[in-house]
Amino acid sequence: MKNFKKTGVIFVTMAVAFGVLAGAVAYAADDPKQVVKYRKSVMKAQLRHFQAIKAIVRGKVSFTGLLANQAMALDLTGKGLTDLFPAGTGPDKIKTRAKADIWQDWKKFEASAKKLHQETAKLVKIANGGDKKAAAAQFKAVGKACGGCHKSFRAKKKRKKKK
Ligand code: HEC
Repeated sequence: MKNFKKTGVIFVTMAVAFGVLAGAVAYAADDPKQVVKYRKSVMKAQLRHFQAIKAIVRGKVSFTGLLANQAMALDLTGKGLTDLFPAGTGPDKIKTRAKADIWQDWKKFEASAKKLHQETAKLVKIANGGDKKAAAAQFKAVGKACGGCHKSFRAKKKRKKKK
């Protein structure tokens, strides 16, 4: 039984290690075009949650009870943002608004992502507490964290007709 357990553990460990490796390989091979498309979807999802939160904290709608849900959704959506910017998905390789500065100053980029996550985690806490004023203030801090990264790392929109 003891031996069986050990073998089991080794087998699971190997399976996990292999899974991680296989995952990494598949990830590295992702088509840059698809990666850009994916990260834009994630950014847009963030924007939607952000807008929903805004409507609640500004009192445009009275769904106060749903604030924590939206805050948690935003917090989750923003997790692992830096993973969405693998090497080879910059403007030298593909059409994207991600600036080359991301890969030139990766540490600062990581810090910007971390900052957002700190602010959204704080918003979740506040939203669960139910203090509306504090939630409104923290919503602003979240917006600042989005804008902080965009200012440094997102290129301006090229002028074209709105979709
Ligand atoms: C760590 C940096 C970073 C943070 C934090 C960040 N973004 Fe972004 N965002 C980017 C970059 C870089 C792009 C450009 C992506 C591209 O074109 O490939 C982008 C693009 C976008 C877009 C345009 C998507 C499209 O379809 O072109 C929206 C909308 C957006 N972000 C919203 C947000 C919101 C809302 C937040 C905060 C809740 C946020 N972002 C936080 C870096 C960030």
